[in-house]
Formats: sequence, structure tokens, C-alpha cells
Amino acid sequence: MNVADRTETFQESVIRKMTRVAQRYQGINLAQGFPEKDPPEEVVREAVRAIQQGGNQYSITWGLPALREAVSGKFSRFAGLTADPETEITITCGCSEAIVATLMGLVNPGEKVIVFEPFYENYLPGITLCGGIPEFVRLRDPNWSLDPDELKKAFAKKPKALILNTPCNPSGKVFSREEMEMIAGYCREYGTFVITDEIYEHILYDGLQHVRMAALPGMWEQTVTISGISKSYSATGWRVGYVIAHPRLTSAIRKCHDYMVVCAPTPFQMGAVVAMGLPDAYYIELQEFYRERRDFLLKVFETLSIPVFRPAGAYYMMIRIDGLGRGDDEAFAMALAEQVGLAVVPGSSFYHRPEDGRDKVRFCFAKKWETLSQVQERLERFLGR
Ligand SMILES: Cc1ncc(COP(=O)(O)O)c(C=O)c1O
Repeated sequence: MNVADRTETFQESVIRKMTRVAQRYQGINLAQGFPEKDPPEEVVREAVRAIQQGGNQYSITWGLPALREAVSGKFSRFAGLTADPETEITITCGCSEAIVATLMGLVNPGEKVIVFEPFYENYLPGITLCGGIPEFVRLRDPNWSLDPDELKKAFAKKPKALILNTPCNPSGKVFSREEMEMIAGYCREYGTFVITDEIYEHILYDGLQHVRMAALPGMWEQTVTISGISKSYSATGWRVGYVIAHPRLTSAIRKCHDYMVVCAPTPFQMGAVVAMGLPDAYYIELQEFYRERRDFLLKVFETLSIPVFRPAGAYYMMIRIDGLGRGDDEAFAMALAEQVGLAVVPGSSFYHRPEDGRDKVRFCFAKKWETLSQVQERLERFLGR
């Protein structure tokens, strides 16, 4: 008896695999992108209160009205856009479920979906599960620049959708307004949906501003804005995300969401209501928290003379390992875990042709200072410096 063919077309998550490797060697897990940081106290308090005071049953499938209202309020505060909580906002089990429900709701088997690479590894299984065909457009290192000709060629294949992750995991790229306008221009011309993944919308460095595709001229009706509480409020285990889209798109996405998960966890949705109302100072502090850690790790790699791709956003850092004499990305990552107990992600897992990422590995720096100083010490030991 055979299992479904579709499961043969993608691999188990390399990030989750490296997390298990970290556990095997009782190492530090810099592979999976979770912060070593608690959610804000008032947000936790509200979730606890919700559990103790009866918020333990299913919520309406597309999300608690209070949370949809709160998401709408936050969207108008930060994006300057109006989204109707009744017809344009859906609460999901994290951004991950939001992306799959959106792909299922919008993409037919055989239709193409543009993906920029290096990419967040969940996108490909998501596209495969709905029978779509990924069309890759390369972001060229060291600056992760977008080649206009390559983009033009990808659009000439008339894609149904494009996934846009900014700030981007794993590269740390923040798409510029000009790049986004160029993408938007093609999407309008070809009637292509944009599915955004804005999970790192509040983690940008060096004074950069987050640009929202939905806010660009003419893009509201064909953009699905996806975000969630995992990274902005350090609550990756709560599984609360959301989708903002035109009612026609929302109703297709809601059907897929309903039959996959019914609803996001109710008490954590209640906690998320409080998160949505946090003041501007909270976000300023969050950025500073990660900027300090980014700068620390940049310095560590500079001292070790290891070339780094300087992240402009999110909380990952890719480094070049091809000059270190420790083999390719997988050999490097396994040796690092075995010898000094540091788990990182091999670069090949972010490319559709693994050979394109063999010269890189990714570190997550959303960690406590004690952890980061251990990372420094272990890296020095590993490299014999
Ligand atoms: C780019 C990107 N999108 C989505 C996710 C997952 O988000 P969520 O926890 O909301 O499912 C991650 C987690 O690392 C991510 O890096």
C-alpha cells in the first residue's frame, strides 16, 4: 500500500531536523527561529486569565471578533489601510497555516507561484500540497539584489501568485520600495496575486521602514497580507496568525482554514488582543533588542574573519563557510553540532538546487546574552582561534 505521491515531492524540514540534532548533542539551538525571550507580561496575563475564566472552547472559525477588531485597528495604525473585521480578516494557526490556507484557496493545480530564493522552507511544501508549480527568482548575494530581467522572465510564464517575504528569512533582506513597485507593476499587468509573509514586519535595522504591498497603488484587491504574533511578541508556540485580504479572497481562504484547523487557540487569541494594542515604545524596544544582538554577532564574525551577509531585518544571519576548510554546509553544520554543540541550518535547504547554498549556513540570533557569549566561545573553539 502506497502513501500519497505528493508526500514524496518534499523532504522533512531541515530546520526541525537540526533542532533534534541540537537536542541529541544537548547543544544550543540556533537552527529554529524561536526567540529566547518571553511575550510581554500583560499579554501572558491575559492568556492565563482567559484559560482560568472560561476561554477554552472553539472560537468562531475565522477568529474571535475582538481579535479581528484589534488586528484591523493595528493594520490601520501601521499600514494606514482599512480592513473590515467581518469580511477581510481571518485568524489562523500562525502564519504557517495562513500561507497554506491561502495557497489552497487561490492556486489551482498546475498554476505557477513565484518564490524568491533563498526562501523560507515552508513555501515549497505549501505550493506542492495544492498542486502548484514553484517558479524561482534568485536574490543575488552578497546584497540579495533582484535581477529585473529574471523577474520579467518569471512573469512571462503568467504566474497565478507570488510569495513575498519581507523582511526575509533566511537572508535578512528588506525589499526596497522600488523593488516592490516593480513587482507590483508586473502583478497588475498579469493579474498575479501577491501573498505576503510579514511575520518580521517589526524587526528592521538601520532606520529601514517596512513597506506593505497591500498599500501600493492598485494592490489592495490582489494582495493577501499575512502576519502573526510569533515573532513580534515572542510567542511562537501560541500559534496565532492572521490573513488580511479582499472579501472575495478571504471567503476562499476561510473555507480552507475552517476544514484544516477549525480555529486558532482561543485563549491565545485573547492574549493576542492585548498584544495588538501595545504602544509604539514596545516596537522601538523590540528593534533595539535585536539590533544589539545582530551587531554583537556581526562583530564576532568580523573578529573571526568570516564573511557575513549583513541582515537588514529579521533575526538570522547567513555566513560564508566555503573558505573555512570544514567541508560543505551539511558537513560544517554537523561538525559544529557534534564538536561544540551548536546547531545551525545548512544553506542548501533554502535553495531548490541544493548546490546553490552549499557555501552558507544560517544562524538565528534571537538569543539571550549568556547564550550568545557561549556561541562566541564555542565558535572560537571550533575554529581553533
Ligand atoms: C518567514 C517566516 N514565515 C513564517 C514563519 C512561521 O510563522 P508562524 O509561527 O506564525 O507560523 C517563520 C518562522 O520561522 C518564518 O521565518
